[in-house]
Amino acid sequence: MNGGEDVVHDDPYADELREVDPEPHPDDRDLDVSLRPRVLTEFIGQPRVREQLELVLEGARRRGDPPDHILLSGPPGLGKTSLAMIVAAELGVSVRLTSGPALERAGDLAAMLSNLVPGDVLFIDEIHRIARPAEEMLYLAMEDFRVDVIVGKGPGATSIPLDVAPFTLVGATTRAGSLTGPLRDRFGFTAHMEFYEPDELELVLRRAAQILQIDLRADGAEEIAGRCRGTPRIANRLLRRVRDFAEVRADGVIRRGVARDALDVYDVDELGLDRLDRAVLSALVRSFGGGPVGISTLAVAVGEEAGTVEEVCEPYLVRAGMLARTPRGRVATAAAWSHLGLTPPADGTAGPQSPALF
Ligand SMILES: Nc1ncnc2c1ncn2[C@@H]1O[C@H](COP(=O)(O)OP(=O)(O)O)[C@@H](O)[C@H]1O
Ligand SMILES: [Mg+2]
Repeated sequence: MNGGEDVVHDDPYADELREVDPEPHPDDRDLDVSLRPRVLTEFIGQPRVREQLELVLEGARRRGDPPDHILLSGPPGLGKTSLAMIVAAELGVSVRLTSGPALERAGDLAAMLSNLVPGDVLFIDEIHRIARPAEEMLYLAMEDFRVDVIVGKGPGATSIPLDVAPFTLVGATTRAGSLTGPLRDRFGFTAHMEFYEPDELELVLRRAAQILQIDLRADGAEEIAGRCRGTPRIANRLLRRVRDFAEVRADGVIRRGVARDALDVYDVDELGLDRLDRAVLSALVRSFGGGPVGISTLAVAVGEEAGTVEEVCEPYLVRAGMLARTPRGRVATAAAWSHLGLTPPADGTAGPQSPALF
């Protein structure tokens, strides 16, 4: 539904899947599964989360109880779903999968809960999108392992208490801030996932190359790692693109030169920016003198919707130290000017030289 709005947007990027999208593409799903680390020791990076989780799981194993409920929070593509599966694998229990948007009514959740076997992991992806009635039912289930199922409507409605097998809820969210307080408080442990460092991404790439039997050399891995926005899912996708290129245009071996040429074809530059990211920076710098400029004005200049620029491009540009949000609008940093091969104005309007984060 578009709310009756029949404006046709002239959107040059609309039907394009972005190679640097951290959300899965349709053709990622199978590989996401085959490349997923299965046990904690296979899980690369996130040393803090791994250590904390190890303790939570080992403590529970020793006590013979299910561990506390676990919340995994962080941007898409960093390994939340993988970790949820690992929790179940490490505990030797099975996992039931659902997601916030699928739990529209309390009954949907009651059905999931009543099927649990003692010790099971219940994984709720995008848990911040759970509907209110289901969320309220979840409180009691998490706390006391029981639910009250309401039967009937109006004054004749009765509530029937039902026991739920002791289980561990693993919730994943890209927006921990949108979780309600009561829900957040019921998790005993929250893991905050961070973007990966280049050397960790090289390990992710080498592991994937080994599984997919790709001849990836050290310098090739380094080149790809620098362009995948700190995100393993993007790393694995770029690896596949480079493999195609290496097989069709070269001898199948991925060295730095091949990786570079391949990613040029796919318009992913050395910082992992794609066409749309660069269009935004370029408009900001070339048409608006580096800003400040409002997000909607900027979006019009690149022929894109404001929401897309704000949600899809901006977070990474900010993180890479290219763009700053100020109360008066968006401002290009000195790093953005130099990334475009331009000299920032000397009067300091380009803002502080913020270092790239990786
Ligand atoms: N720590 C890691 N080590 C190795 N591969 C990883 C790691 N984290 C993520 N991946 C890879 O990235 C893909 C996406 O991870 P996923 O768990 O689906 O992320 P999320 O649920 O946070 O979006 C996985 O299929 C896996 O191949
Ligand atoms: Mg996921």
